[in-house]
Amino acid sequence: MSVKTTRIAHLSDLHLLEPNPDGSRSYGFDVRFVSLGRKLDARERMRKVTRALEAAQRAGVDHVVVSGDLTETGTARQFEAVAEVFHDSRIPPSQVTMVPGNHDAYTAPRAWREALDGPLRAYAETSAHGPGAVVERPGFCILPIDVACHQPVTRSSGELSMLEADALERRLRDPAFSRKAVVVVQHHPPNPHRVPAWQWIDGLRGWARMMKLLEQNPEVQVLHGHLHYAVNRMVVNGRDRIFGAPAVVSDKDDAVRVRLYEVRDGVLESAGLIAA
Ligand SMILES: [Fe+2]
Repeated sequence: MSVKTTRIAHLSDLHLLEPNPDGSRSYGFDVRFVSLGRKLDARERMRKVTRALEAAQRAGVDHVVVSGDLTETGTARQFEAVAEVFHDSRIPPSQVTMVPGNHDAYTAPRAWREALDGPLRAYAETSAHGPGAVVERPGFCILPIDVACHQPVTRSSGELSMLEADALERRLRDPAFSRKAVVVVQHHPPNPHRVPAWQWIDGLRGWARMMKLLEQNPEVQVLHGHLHYAVNRMVVNGRDRIFGAPAVVSDKDDAVRVRLYEVRDGVLESAGLIAA
Protein backbone atom coordinates (compact mmCIF):
# COMPACT_ATOMS: atom_id res chain seq x y z
CA MET A 1 0.00 0.00 0.00
CA SER A 2 1.31 3.44 -0.86
CA VAL A 3 2.09 5.70 2.10
CA LYS A 4 1.66 9.47 2.12
CA THR A 5 4.76 11.49 1.26
CA THR A 6 6.36 13.01 4.32
CA ARG A 7 9.02 15.71 4.53
CA ILE A 8 12.06 16.03 6.72
CA ALA A 9 14.13 19.20 7.21
CA HIS A 10 17.83 18.75 8.00
CA LEU A 11 19.76 21.45 9.85
CA SER A 12 23.31 21.03 11.04
CA ASP A 13 26.21 22.74 12.75
CA LEU A 14 24.45 25.61 14.47
CA HIS A 15 27.44 26.42 16.73
CA LEU A 16 25.30 28.55 19.03
CA LEU A 17 26.97 30.78 21.60
CA GLU A 18 25.64 32.26 24.81
CA PRO A 19 24.81 35.95 24.33
CA ASN A 20 27.66 37.84 25.91
CA PRO A 21 27.01 41.42 27.00
CA ASP A 22 30.74 42.17 26.94
CA GLY A 23 31.12 41.29 23.27
CA SER A 24 33.41 38.82 21.54
CA ARG A 25 36.56 39.76 23.53
CA SER A 26 35.29 38.08 26.67
CA TYR A 27 34.78 34.63 25.13
CA GLY A 28 37.47 32.24 26.33
CA PHE A 29 40.42 30.93 24.35
CA ASP A 30 38.63 27.64 23.57
CA VAL A 31 35.68 29.43 21.94
CA ARG A 32 37.96 31.78 19.98
CA PHE A 33 40.10 28.82 18.84
CA VAL A 34 37.30 26.55 17.59
CA SER A 35 35.41 29.50 16.13
CA LEU A 36 38.34 30.80 14.10
CA GLY A 37 37.04 32.55 10.99
CA ARG A 38 33.47 32.79 12.34
CA LYS A 39 32.07 35.97 13.79
CA LEU A 40 31.45 35.69 17.54
CA ASP A 41 27.97 37.15 17.37
CA ALA A 42 25.64 35.04 19.50
CA ARG A 43 22.46 36.85 18.49
CA GLU A 44 23.26 36.58 14.78
CA ARG A 45 23.83 32.84 15.10
CA MET A 46 20.54 32.40 16.96
CA ARG A 47 18.76 34.47 14.30
CA LYS A 48 20.06 32.19 11.54
CA VAL A 49 18.66 29.12 13.29
CA THR A 50 15.34 30.89 13.82
CA ARG A 51 15.18 31.68 10.10
CA ALA A 52 16.04 28.11 9.18
CA LEU A 53 13.29 26.76 11.45
CA GLU A 54 10.78 29.24 10.03
CA ALA A 55 11.68 28.09 6.50
CA ALA A 56 11.22 24.46 7.52
CA GLN A 57 7.77 25.29 8.89
CA ARG A 58 6.82 27.15 5.70
CA ALA A 59 7.88 24.07 3.72
CA GLY A 60 5.40 22.02 5.75
CA VAL A 61 7.89 19.52 7.08
CA ASP A 62 6.76 16.67 9.32
CA HIS A 63 10.03 16.45 11.23
CA VAL A 64 13.21 18.44 11.84
CA VAL A 65 16.58 16.72 12.26
CA VAL A 66 19.61 18.55 13.68
CA SER A 67 22.84 16.62 13.11
CA GLY A 68 25.13 18.01 15.79
CA ASP A 69 27.39 20.86 16.76
CA LEU A 70 24.38 22.52 18.29
CA THR A 71 26.79 24.62 20.36
CA GLU A 72 30.30 26.03 19.94
CA THR A 73 31.89 24.35 22.98
CA GLY A 74 29.03 22.64 24.85
CA THR A 75 28.68 24.94 27.88
CA ALA A 76 25.45 24.93 29.87
CA ARG A 77 24.66 28.47 28.73
CA GLN A 78 25.16 27.56 25.08
CA PHE A 79 22.70 24.66 25.45
CA GLU A 80 20.28 27.15 27.02
CA ALA A 81 20.60 29.26 23.86
CA VAL A 82 19.74 26.18 21.77
CA ALA A 83 16.69 25.52 23.94
CA GLU A 84 15.57 29.15 23.66
CA VAL A 85 15.65 29.16 19.86
CA PHE A 86 13.84 25.83 19.49
CA HIS A 87 11.21 26.57 22.14
CA ASP A 88 10.53 29.95 20.51
CA SER A 89 10.00 28.25 17.12
CA ARG A 90 6.93 26.51 18.57
CA ILE A 91 7.71 23.39 16.57
CA PRO A 92 6.40 20.55 18.75
CA PRO A 93 9.38 18.85 20.45
CA SER A 94 8.01 15.47 19.31
CA GLN A 95 8.85 16.61 15.76
CA VAL A 96 12.48 17.50 16.49
CA THR A 97 15.45 15.13 16.69
CA MET A 98 18.86 16.36 17.85
CA VAL A 99 22.19 14.57 18.10
CA PRO A 100 25.41 16.02 19.56
CA GLY A 101 28.59 16.75 17.62
CA ASN A 102 32.22 17.02 18.67
CA HIS A 103 31.81 20.71 19.60
CA ASP A 104 29.05 19.80 22.06
CA ALA A 105 31.51 17.68 24.07
CA TYR A 106 34.51 20.05 24.31
CA THR A 107 33.61 21.42 27.74
CA ALA A 108 32.62 18.23 29.57
CA PRO A 109 32.00 14.54 28.81
CA ARG A 110 28.48 14.67 30.27
CA ALA A 111 27.43 18.01 28.82
CA TRP A 112 24.97 16.49 26.32
CA ARG A 113 23.44 14.25 29.01
CA GLU A 114 23.06 17.25 31.30
CA ALA A 115 21.49 19.29 28.50
CA LEU A 116 18.94 16.51 27.88
CA ASP A 117 18.17 16.44 31.61
CA GLY A 118 18.06 20.25 31.71
CA PRO A 119 17.25 22.88 29.07
CA LEU A 120 16.67 20.35 26.26
CA ARG A 121 14.55 17.94 28.31
CA ALA A 122 11.50 18.51 26.08
CA TYR A 123 13.53 17.08 23.16
CA ALA A 124 15.17 14.19 25.02
CA GLU A 125 12.70 11.48 24.05
CA THR A 126 13.08 12.14 20.32
CA SER A 127 16.83 12.80 20.40
CA ALA A 128 20.01 10.77 20.96
CA HIS A 129 19.29 9.96 24.60
CA GLY A 130 21.15 6.64 24.63
CA PRO A 131 22.06 3.54 22.61
CA GLY A 132 19.05 2.13 20.78
CA ALA A 133 17.09 5.41 20.76
CA VAL A 134 14.37 5.34 18.12
CA VAL A 135 11.81 7.88 16.91
CA GLU A 136 8.86 6.30 15.12
CA ARG A 137 6.88 8.54 12.80
CA PRO A 138 4.32 7.67 10.11
CA GLY A 139 6.26 6.30 7.16
CA PHE A 140 9.74 6.53 8.66
CA CYS A 141 11.75 5.97 11.78
CA ILE A 142 14.82 7.81 12.96
CA LEU A 143 17.70 6.21 14.83
CA PRO A 144 19.63 9.11 16.46
CA ILE A 145 23.20 8.26 17.44
CA ASP A 146 25.64 10.04 19.74
CA VAL A 147 29.17 9.84 18.29
CA ALA A 148 30.50 12.84 20.23
CA CYS A 149 33.43 12.32 22.59
CA HIS A 150 35.22 14.59 25.04
CA GLN A 151 38.64 15.62 23.66
CA PRO A 152 40.92 18.68 23.43
CA VAL A 153 39.79 21.47 21.10
CA THR A 154 42.73 20.57 18.83
CA ARG A 155 40.89 17.41 17.73
CA SER A 156 37.49 17.00 16.11
CA SER A 157 37.05 13.24 15.94
CA GLY A 158 33.97 11.18 16.71
CA GLU A 159 33.41 7.64 17.91
CA LEU A 160 30.77 5.06 17.14
CA SER A 161 30.97 3.18 20.42
CA MET A 162 30.42 -0.58 20.69
CA LEU A 163 27.29 0.09 22.75
CA GLU A 164 25.81 2.37 20.07
CA ALA A 165 26.80 0.05 17.22
CA ASP A 166 25.43 -3.08 18.95
CA ALA A 167 22.15 -1.32 19.74
CA LEU A 168 21.89 -0.04 16.17
CA GLU A 169 22.49 -3.53 14.80
CA ARG A 170 19.74 -4.95 17.01
CA ARG A 171 17.33 -2.24 15.84
CA LEU A 172 18.10 -2.93 12.20
CA ARG A 173 17.20 -6.60 12.71
CA ASP A 174 13.76 -5.60 14.03
CA PRO A 175 11.14 -6.59 11.41
CA ALA A 176 8.91 -3.73 12.64
CA PHE A 177 11.06 -1.35 10.58
CA SER A 178 10.94 -3.33 7.35
CA ARG A 179 8.15 -1.24 5.79
CA LYS A 180 9.53 2.13 6.84
CA ALA A 181 12.35 4.36 5.70
CA VAL A 182 15.07 3.96 8.33
CA VAL A 183 17.08 7.13 8.88
CA VAL A 184 20.24 7.08 10.99
CA VAL A 185 21.26 10.54 12.22
CA GLN A 186 24.81 11.14 13.45
CA HIS A 187 27.21 14.04 13.42
CA HIS A 188 30.24 12.66 11.58
CA PRO A 189 30.01 11.24 8.07
CA PRO A 190 30.34 7.44 8.06
CA ASN A 191 33.07 7.48 5.40
CA PRO A 192 36.78 7.53 6.27
CA HIS A 193 39.18 10.33 5.39
CA ARG A 194 41.58 9.59 2.57
CA VAL A 195 44.57 10.72 4.66
CA PRO A 196 45.13 8.48 7.75
CA ALA A 197 46.54 11.29 9.92
CA TRP A 198 43.48 13.41 9.23
CA GLN A 199 41.29 10.42 10.12
CA TRP A 200 42.87 10.42 13.61
CA ILE A 201 42.28 14.15 14.04
CA ASP A 202 38.85 14.54 12.48
CA GLY A 203 37.41 11.15 11.50
CA LEU A 204 34.90 8.74 12.99
CA ARG A 205 36.35 5.82 14.92
CA GLY A 206 34.22 2.79 14.15
CA TRP A 207 33.36 4.03 10.66
CA ALA A 208 34.00 0.57 9.14
CA ARG A 209 31.30 -1.00 11.28
CA MET A 210 28.79 1.66 10.24
CA MET A 211 29.64 1.24 6.56
CA LYS A 212 29.25 -2.54 6.90
CA LEU A 213 25.83 -2.07 8.49
CA LEU A 214 24.86 0.19 5.60
CA GLU A 215 26.03 -2.41 3.08
CA GLN A 216 24.02 -5.10 4.85
CA ASN A 217 20.88 -2.96 5.21
CA PRO A 218 20.04 -1.31 1.88
CA GLU A 219 16.89 0.31 3.32
CA VAL A 220 18.94 2.49 5.69
CA GLN A 221 20.07 6.04 4.94
CA VAL A 222 22.32 8.33 6.98
CA LEU A 223 21.96 12.06 7.61
CA HIS A 224 25.08 13.73 8.96
CA GLY A 225 26.77 17.08 9.49
CA HIS A 226 30.35 18.01 10.43
CA LEU A 227 31.61 18.82 6.92
CA HIS A 228 29.63 22.08 6.76
CA TYR A 229 28.64 21.47 3.12
CA ALA A 230 25.97 19.43 1.36
CA VAL A 231 26.85 15.83 0.52
CA ASN A 232 25.13 13.08 -1.51
CA ARG A 233 26.86 9.72 -1.51
CA MET A 234 26.14 6.12 -2.41
CA VAL A 235 27.19 3.33 -0.06
CA VAL A 236 28.53 0.91 -2.67
CA ASN A 237 26.42 1.62 -5.71
CA GLY A 238 22.80 2.36 -6.51
CA ARG A 239 20.94 5.34 -5.08
CA ASP A 240 22.39 7.98 -2.77
CA ARG A 241 22.00 6.98 0.86
CA ILE A 242 24.44 9.24 2.73
CA PHE A 243 23.42 12.88 2.96
CA GLY A 244 25.19 15.81 4.60
CA ALA A 245 23.72 19.24 5.30
CA PRO A 246 25.45 22.64 5.10
CA ALA A 247 26.25 24.44 8.35
CA VAL A 248 23.66 26.97 9.44
CA VAL A 249 26.44 28.95 11.14
CA SER A 250 28.40 29.26 7.90
CA ASP A 251 25.59 30.67 5.81
CA LYS A 252 25.39 34.42 5.39
CA ASP A 253 22.62 35.98 7.45
CA ASP A 254 20.61 36.78 4.33
CA ALA A 255 21.10 33.35 2.72
CA VAL A 256 20.49 30.64 5.31
CA ARG A 257 19.77 27.27 3.70
CA VAL A 258 17.79 24.25 4.86
CA ARG A 259 18.13 20.80 3.37
CA LEU A 260 14.88 18.93 2.63
CA TYR A 261 14.06 15.28 2.01
CA GLU A 262 10.92 13.47 0.97
CA VAL A 263 10.05 10.03 2.27
CA ARG A 264 7.83 7.84 0.17
CA ASP A 265 7.20 4.08 0.32
CA GLY A 266 10.17 3.41 2.57
CA VAL A 267 12.69 5.49 0.63
CA LEU A 268 14.19 8.85 1.56
CA GLU A 269 15.21 11.14 -1.30
CA SER A 270 16.86 14.52 -1.35
CA ALA A 271 14.44 17.34 -2.16
CA GLY A 272 17.08 20.07 -2.44
CA LEU A 273 17.97 23.12 -0.42
CA ILE A 274 15.61 25.96 0.34
CA ALA A 275 16.61 29.49 1.22
CA ALA A 276 15.50 30.68 4.63
FE1 LIG B 1 30.56 21.96 12.94
